[in-house]
Amino acid sequence: MIECRPFPPLDNPFPIKKSYLPDFLPIEVNYDTGLLILHAVGKIPHVVTLVGGNERLIDKRARPPVVAFLIWSFAPGCQADCDTRYPCHSTRSIIHCGTWTIPPPAAYSRAMVDMTAIEPHLGRALEDAAIAELPNHYRGKVRENYDLADGRRIIIATDRISAFDRILAAIPLKGQALTQIARFWFDATRDLCPNHVLDYPDPNVLLCRRLRIMPVEIVVRDYLAGTTGTSIWPMYKAGRREMYGIRFPEGMRENEKLPQTIITPTTKAFDGGHDEPLSAAEITRRGLLTPAQWDEVSARALALFARGRTMAAARGLILVDTKYEFGFDAEGGIVLADEIHTPDSSRYWFAESYERRLAAGEKPESFDKDFVRSWVVARCDPYKDPIPPIPPEIVREAARLYIGVFETITGEVFVPPDPSIPPLDRIRAALRPYFAVGGTARKVRS
Ligand SMILES: Nc1ncnc2c1ncn2[C@@H]1O[C@H](COP(=O)(O)OP(=O)(O)O)[C@@H](O)[C@H]1O
Ligand SMILES: [Mg+2]
Repeated sequence: MIECRPFPPLDNPFPIKKSYLPDFLPIEVNYDTGLLILHAVGKIPHVVTLVGGNERLIDKRARPPVVAFLIWSFAPGCQADCDTRYPCHSTRSIIHCGTWTIPPPAAYSRAMVDMTAIEPHLGRALEDAAIAELPNHYRGKVRENYDLADGRRIIIATDRISAFDRILAAIPLKGQALTQIARFWFDATRDLCPNHVLDYPDPNVLLCRRLRIMPVEIVVRDYLAGTTGTSIWPMYKAGRREMYGIRFPEGMRENEKLPQTIITPTTKAFDGGHDEPLSAAEITRRGLLTPAQWDEVSARALALFARGRTMAAARGLILVDTKYEFGFDAEGGIVLADEIHTPDSSRYWFAESYERRLAAGEKPESFDKDFVRSWVVARCDPYKDPIPPIPPEIVREAARLYIGVFETITGEVFVPPDPSIPPLDRIRAALRPYFAVGGTARKVRS
């Protein structure tokens, strides 16, 4: 990352806002000069200069953008407010330089997604991925699963959007965005917990180790939020102060930060049932997990969530809550399965506007699937009535949203697939080598 050489002087300083800067950087900003004072390096303060204006970003394709920076030490007698464009420091006083990814402000993801590349895909959502040549098909709410005879599982993410135990719509490119977000997080958390990933044969497809999935879903939360039957806010609002075996303080408001990170486990409803709240005591009492397994899985989940929280914060995001699924391998080892920190399994809010909106009694800004959910909820009772068809402009906006989520979380540019090949044809071609592996009828559910 670091290449130390003097950069040309600034003639168009990048407009810096405090909200772009990660909280953990002990920096003071002079908005007029673009001068940043870094407090924690050495005894005397140092000056950080961002190099290049908008048109000279080091990596223009990166989203959020990457800029170069220099950290200067003060020359004796130099004032902090000296002209940054022609710093009086000699180049020898540069003590550090490198590149820096600027975390996105709230509106970033919406503004930056290039819809021209997305447009050709809009009529082409992947609603189903039934492939007759692959064995042991299980059609999940969102993903199509195939168990190979050799203990591997193929998981194809379709573009289906699921909520209220229903399928609401199919959003083009969502399956790819989801698979690629999970991939980003699996890579970023490998050191904390073994995971089931073996390979990605296609942008929508995960090849993994088939595990015996735990009958418990591990939900981790930092905020008093949510709308569904197992969410803590609706129960709290109804007067409950004891949920999931955890005591909650009086006087909390919707979407407020909890005094500490909590785990609110639920049953894993196989084959379309409802998830039910559990507690740690109940999990072990009912023999769903041994006490040692519960201890391990909860520690792993908290570690994964802590990593997610820190990395999300560096991108201007709050990881509000998430659901993990773990499984056991053949030796009984605990392995992270399913997906991780995707917008389907997690709630994210924009950090920039959170405090202000909370104080004003407004909902935090989010880019999760609440967008399509809200549209549906405004028009019917999603648990009882038929779901009305989602209009094309909502589908289009949702596609943009999912791609924006991918780009904001990962900092990478979304690469749409070749629009001339229908997605299922492409996936079939990528999976042809597995047709020959075959399968048996054996199921691994316990
Ligand atoms: N490594 C794995 N081994 C076995 N099952 C897995 C593994 N990873 C995920 N799964 C299961 O695959 C399914 C993924 O598809 P999904 O659409 O999420 O289905 P569901 O409707 O059951 O949530 C889930 O049931 C999940 O529990
Ligand atoms: Mg699922």
